[in-house]
Amino acid sequence: MSSLAIAVFDSGLGGLTVLKVLRDHFPGENFVYLGDTARLPYGSKSPETIHKYAKRNIDFLLKTKIKAVVVACNSASAALRSHPVAAPVPVFEVIQPGAEAALAATKTGQIGVVGTFATVSQGAYAKCITSLSAEVTVHSQACPLLVPLVEEGWIDDPLTNLVVNRYVGPLLNKGIDTLILGCTHYPILKKNFRKVTGPDIQLIDSGEAIAHKLQRAIAHGSVAPNTGGRGSFQILTTDKTARFAEIAAYLLGEQNIPTVEVVDV
Ligand code: DGL
Repeated sequence: MSSLAIAVFDSGLGGLTVLKVLRDHFPGENFVYLGDTARLPYGSKSPETIHKYAKRNIDFLLKTKIKAVVVACNSASAALRSHPVAAPVPVFEVIQPGAEAALAATKTGQIGVVGTFATVSQGAYAKCITSLSAEVTVHSQACPLLVPLVEEGWIDDPLTNLVVNRYVGPLLNKGIDTLILGCTHYPILKKNFRKVTGPDIQLIDSGEAIAHKLQRAIAHGSVAPNTGGRGSFQILTTDKTARFAEIAAYLLGEQNIPTVEVVDV
């Protein structure tokens, strides 16, 4: 039994989509969420810079009492896969679970990936998927306009649908049957993606994939479960960001606006 928190970090608010899924799957666990809003966006930065930020976040979180780290950010996960950091607790990234979920879902072997420029240019999903199976072809598309649209709150918006269509259309023409939403912000646009793909394409969400990975880690004993009752969560950011708490409440499905503490990482 361990009441220590599971730390989740992202460049900003997108990782709250992952926290939401984790809280739904593990209601008894305590979570601490760090949004590195002072350095957002990660997706347009170099792998070296993203790695530096990710390592700082992990070092900071390790100083609080935690039993595992979930790197919710795909761009950071991609950078850490190339150069993993040593840590005294398990560190989970989202690329491998997403890749495994896509491989389990595809029937045609044509898998699409959408993500930030950083994730796609490092070939993170493509390398991971093809290392797991030689039978599949991966078609990747960077979608740099989508994060700003989400940050602007243009979710249910025809302009956003047009942008999604522009990015995803060429992948559909390649015959994909599975599409990895390889960025923390994209699950917020799931309806927009669904509108463009139609009902038959499998959409893979990192949050769900990482939840299954954590479930396996708990079952195998590498992460001790908290059996102490109802879990709590704490939200930290590296910059005071307007409306963060309000958006956090919306993304987490919470009635009350949570407290957001600004920390120096
Ligand atoms: N969290 C980032 C990711 O999943 C998207 C936002 C950003 O560019 O920082 O790649």
